[in-house]
Amino acid sequence: MKFEGKKVAAYRDDAGTLHTLSPTCTHAGCIVSWNGEEKSWDCPCHGARYDINGEVITGPATKGLAKIDV
Ligand code: FES
Repeated sequence: MKFEGKKVAAYRDDAGTLHTLSPTCTHAGCIVSWNGEEKSWDCPCHGARYDINGEVITGPATKGLAKIDV
């Protein structure tokens, strides 16, 4: 989604909580996309994966996605 002109990776969980993150992969800057089956943010460039809170699941990224308040 976009918020104030910027791309935001947004996921609303089953409890209704909205999780909003920077969509920019911390490895080399590609834009992550939502993986609905695994409930993760996956980077198409080198395979990094992040959980709904932006924490790294799989490298090569070593740093999580930045949280964004909306
Ligand atoms: S830019 Fe995302 S894994 Fe490399």
